[in-house]
Amino acid sequence: MSTSAPETDLAQYYALRAHEYEAVYAKPERQVDIAQIQAWLPGAFEGRDGVEVACGTGFWTPFAARRASRWLATDLNEETLVLARRKPVDGERVHFERRDAYASWAAPTFDAAFAGFWWSHVPLGRLNDWLAALHSGLRPGARVVLMDNRYVEGSNHPIHRRDAQGNTYQLRRLADGSQHEVLKNFPTQAEALAVLGPQACAVQWTETTYYWLLCYTWAPEARG
Ligand SMILES: C[S@@+](CC[C@H](N)C(=O)[O-])C[C@H]1O[C@@H](n2cnc3c(N)ncnc32)[C@H](O)[C@@H]1O
Repeated sequence: MSTSAPETDLAQYYALRAHEYEAVYAKPERQVDIAQIQAWLPGAFEGRDGVEVACGTGFWTPFAARRASRWLATDLNEETLVLARRKPVDGERVHFERRDAYASWAAPTFDAAFAGFWWSHVPLGRLNDWLAALHSGLRPGARVVLMDNRYVEGSNHPIHRRDAQGNTYQLRRLADGSQHEVLKNFPTQAEALAVLGPQACAVQWTETTYYWLLCYTWAPEARG
């Protein structure tokens, strides 16, 4: 088990896990929720110019990008992007790029953003940094959809420790037998909304059995 910074560990863990990652989407108990979200995603970004953060193997990309006018799916790891680029997407509209989620954009160019199962991996002390970086790429009125796990006993890895900042960690094992401590937070609705602040308008929080979805309109002109 590595003892470097959680962010470094996380990126390395997902690089190693890339080829076995989508097994998480084969869990039988989650199929109803997954199908429901896959059916909903295309309409969420209809006609929009979207960016996807930490797209991983691109499991959700074909659904999120299906009716978007353009879609840029990004991830820090080339190991996951290689698999994402093989997904059945329209290569004219959908592109993939290696990119750090914490990096700011040079200009606000997108009117939609999507991040699946990324919030939970952001240390609590970096949530504001990450959201500021995300929002730096968005035009006013952009639609944002963030989606992640609810903690469900027996379906998620147990929490094995909590640090002084309140981040929680799981121990996970890969097919090669290696064990990894992975930062994985499970925010409540109140905690998530408190981080977003007043510039997130028309906020909607939806829960399925296994997941939560947070949708909002980015309104930088809004004041608290
Ligand atoms: C839980 S996976 C989510 C993948 C995909 N969004 C999904 O829902 O299936 C987290 C992803 O974050 C990526 N990642 C780790 N650190 C990152 C960073 N600093 N910036 C962007 N992506 C990162 C990993 O490579 C991995 O693909």
